[in-house]
Amino acid sequence: MENELLIRCTDICKNFGATRALINTNFELYRGEVCGLIGENGSGKSTLTSIIAGVQGATSGEMFRNGAAYAPANMVEAQKAGVAMIVQEAGTLPTVDVASNIFVGNYELFRKHGFLDKKRMLQEAERILQEIGADDIHADMMLGDLNFEDRKIVEIARAMYLNPEILIIDESTTALAQKGRQLIYRLITKMRSENKGIIFISHDLEELETVCNRITCLRDGVMVGNLEGDQITVANMRPLMVGRELQGNYYRADYDGTVSDEIVLDVRHITSENGYIRNFSIQLHKGEILGFGGLSDCGMHEIGRMVFGLDRYITGEILHVPSQRKIKSIQDAISLKMGYVSKDRDNESLILNASIQDNTLMAAYKKLERMGLIPPDAEKKLSDHQIEVMRTKCESGEQYVNQLSGGNKQKVAFCKWLAADSEIYILDCPTRGIDIGVKAAMYDLIYRFKKEGKAIIMISEELPELIGMSDRMIIMKDGEISAEVMRDQSVTDTQLIEYMV
Ligand SMILES: Nc1ncnc2c1ncn2[C@@H]1O[C@H](COP(=O)(O)OP(=O)(O)O)[C@@H](O)[C@H]1O
Ligand SMILES: [Mg+2]
Repeated sequence: MENELLIRCTDICKNFGATRALINTNFELYRGEVCGLIGENGSGKSTLTSIIAGVQGATSGEMFRNGAAYAPANMVEAQKAGVAMIVQEAGTLPTVDVASNIFVGNYELFRKHGFLDKKRMLQEAERILQEIGADDIHADMMLGDLNFEDRKIVEIARAMYLNPEILIIDESTTALAQKGRQLIYRLITKMRSENKGIIFISHDLEELETVCNRITCLRDGVMVGNLEGDQITVANMRPLMVGRELQGNYYRADYDGTVSDEIVLDVRHITSENGYIRNFSIQLHKGEILGFGGLSDCGMHEIGRMVFGLDRYITGEILHVPSQRKIKSIQDAISLKMGYVSKDRDNESLILNASIQDNTLMAAYKKLERMGLIPPDAEKKLSDHQIEVMRTKCESGEQYVNQLSGGNKQKVAFCKWLAADSEIYILDCPTRGIDIGVKAAMYDLIYRFKKEGKAIIMISEELPELIGMSDRMIIMKDGEISAEVMRDQSVTDTQLIEYMV
């Protein structure tokens, strides 16, 4: 099999500052394969393929091609080694002609005794355009005069002129209409018949099902699955992308779904600053656990941020119904007894270089004040009480938060709002990256909040948790609500995934 191998990547890691885009990723491509690379936005698909194509280097790890180490310094080097890529973002120069765009970085191919043989360059460009089936685009046309689709086709020609053995197509079909898509499909068929290899990135699962003979899936920089032959179906790809974990029996058991009619938050027609969320409305009830689900770029995290006053909104209003006051800033939210636990716990929910007590009391000082003064012991008492209630594992309230495990950090993030007697909780991925034991404790606590008549927005990327805990689920896609599902024993993750992808 080894001689059939076109490329092997082993233990590839790529860090961007604190972001771990790829974590010990392994990937192989064999001759005659069309390998679909799937995964949510931000899962690392472009990072992996751009390392293969020489756009950037890996932080660590190795690649092998034709039995030898392969580490291209740039795209031109990769192309000479037979690896070409059609990139996600348009990468052409509008002010020069088509031929110059195709051969950018490789003009020396047409240089003789220092002179550039422009005529031969134009001929070669024309030949490649013909070969890939783009006979209505000509080498001497100005790129800026072409429409978006034809510019993309010029990029395809650029990728193809050195006759690559490996072609990477990163989300190019999404932007293309029928003509461009057909061109790519023909190219794929041809390359496959020549025993070459293709890495194909697309969000169109039906397209992947038709085009690919293998599918691999990335999730948060980790390879999580592989499908081959008959296994390649849309139904099998969806759960791979969204991911699921073992169903625990630690969610709430009741299904009567009693929620008061009383509205506590009335979000009316809000639009985010970047316009991704438009005219969004939702109401939150007393005693309700309102779940938000969707892929990570669906807009649900932004909703949580706007409701808490962290991010601005440019139309509409968010009304705290009991007080009839509007929420425009974090100060408004906190004074109305709202609490927020961020998805980015370490940067937004906690001050890592401060004690558990300081973190716990941050939002509670107002409550402790007696005529402008805080009585001695009051702080320690409240903080210790929270540690006890949450069973936070620590030496004492004086211990710094950065010494705690993820689960215990999250407990402190919760404590901050518990100590402030919050009535409305916005929890963004409240159990992200914490162990089963702490998770169970969080679910107990959230359920207790509900029974005490508090209101909870729970934004979650984990379907079992959404189904297991919510009274009502809002599923979002592309900044909009794609479904509203009431608590019921019959709700399945497959059903919710349908609304997300
Ligand atoms: N140049 C960069 N600088 C900082 N972070 C980056 C850069 N490129 C990618 N990332 C981060 O790496 C992760 C993976 O991104 P990417 O490979 O583009 O995902 P995908 O193509 O699957 O949508 C994301 O968290 C993204 O924000
Ligand atoms: Mg990408």
